[in-house]
Amino acid sequence: MLRTEEKVIDEAIQGEALDGRKVPNSNGRKVFIESYGCQMNFSDSEIVASILEKDGYETTKLLHEADIVFVNTCSIREKAEQTVRKRLTVYNKHKRKNPKMIIGVLGCMAERLKSKFLEEEKIVDLVVGPDAYRDLPNLVREVDGGRKAVNVILSKEETYGDIAPVRLGGNGVTAFVSITRGCDNMCTFCVVPFTRGRERSRDPESIIQEVRELSLAGYREVTLLGQNVDSYLWYGGGLKKEFANLSDEEKEKSTNFAQLMDRVAQVDRKIRIRFSTSHPKDMTDDVLHAMARHDNICDYIHLPFQSGNSRILEMMNRGYTRKWYMNRIDAIRRILPTCSISADIISGFCSETEEEHQDTLSMMEYVKYHFSYMFKYSERPNTMAQRKYPDDIPEETKQKRLAEIIELQQKHSHEQLKKDLGKTYEVLVEGVSKKSDDELYGRNTHNSVIVFPRENYKVGEYVMVKVEKCTSATLKGKAVK
Ligand code: SAH
Ligand code: SF4
Ligand code: F3S
Repeated sequence: MLRTEEKVIDEAIQGEALDGRKVPNSNGRKVFIESYGCQMNFSDSEIVASILEKDGYETTKLLHEADIVFVNTCSIREKAEQTVRKRLTVYNKHKRKNPKMIIGVLGCMAERLKSKFLEEEKIVDLVVGPDAYRDLPNLVREVDGGRKAVNVILSKEETYGDIAPVRLGGNGVTAFVSITRGCDNMCTFCVVPFTRGRERSRDPESIIQEVRELSLAGYREVTLLGQNVDSYLWYGGGLKKEFANLSDEEKEKSTNFAQLMDRVAQVDRKIRIRFSTSHPKDMTDDVLHAMARHDNICDYIHLPFQSGNSRILEMMNRGYTRKWYMNRIDAIRRILPTCSISADIISGFCSETEEEHQDTLSMMEYVKYHFSYMFKYSERPNTMAQRKYPDDIPEETKQKRLAEIIELQQKHSHEQLKKDLGKTYEVLVEGVSKKSDDELYGRNTHNSVIVFPRENYKVGEYVMVKVEKCTSATLKGKAVK
């Protein structure tokens, strides 16, 4: 799920800079860190800040006072990369005024383009892939010494499990905790397996410890992050293996996702648990039962389907059919009858016919998603789809199909939210409404945003709110005692 591309999609993508913070052992240099892409990237930027703080770097939210500018980048669609390139032009304008400024590219584009940035484009000083952040202080020293620096080595072990991220991006209420890195799924359209490397699970003890620390620091919601959380498996090591292939001893000490959720949910009953992303091929009934067992695990699942047609799903190498996906939806309805569901959808994948597109719309009718992230297929260099299949759906057709998907989604979102009129929900307050200082906003267990009058309520509180109105994206209500 992409934080910077929320709701609708393929429009201007915005970055977010980490807040500024002074550190006791300051070396007098300030770092500006801006992030694009998925929650994993935002979470990684906080790990980067933590690594740099230990070396005495302060963070700043102001680009013009930065000695070092890092942009944590996304490669998922062409547009995401274009946005970053525009930002690099902006940073370079600042650099003209301040020639000592160091510009570094982090994250997925660093991995995809590697030293191309340094050699051909000469617009950056440093290129660092997602598994090499521990090396950042050394790499900066190299640049200080007059060289360009690059480390894009991907790891089979790195999970940054021992690094407590500095929570600079958030609201002090909700936090992300990575539980896996990388992805082994090889969906044919996707760059992530190339940019993030092999799938690894993180030691459950370090996850529990991080959640404990968040609880002590007053956080009220934790989102467990991974490209495919359902395949989480720790067995003493974390590199992805199938449970059936573990030794008896490894099986004995193993923790799967359902078991991890059981543990995380018990750390602090006042902390809500969310997770993203679930994968239809791996989401077991055990996971759903774990959700049902714990009141503080939110009643909401993000379950991307990408396409409603089995031939297209096969070409995408998603590992499930239309029927299998529907079976997973039926399981959710059976075990968690009130659960809200959201999805990711791609329009115009290679060779998709009009009829196959209709299968996507009919899947939407079957599930009636609360909301979706909807994208036009964007061919990515070196993916299996790029090598095997022509990107043959004309842009206008992709756009037309996307527009139909968005229109249907808006109708369903509105229908789903209308069902909430008159209901009362526990809302975790996340902030003051952007539209009015007199209103607060937060989310209910279904991940729906609710806006209500501020009165004397505060950010971080749980408030019972009765829903009175709705649009296609938000609920409005009033606090009740
Ligand atoms: N791991 C998650 C998805 C991560 S990427 C999962 O498998 O569900 C987030 C979403 O971006 C994907 O679900 C997909 O809908 C979209 N996406 C990925 N590659 C894309 C591409 N080449 N073109 C268009 N959309 C893409
Ligand atoms: Fe990409 Fe597929 Fe992995 Fe998701 S599961 S990150 S879509 S390869
Ligand atoms: Fe995330 Fe974009 Fe990388 S979606 S994993 S930042 S390509």
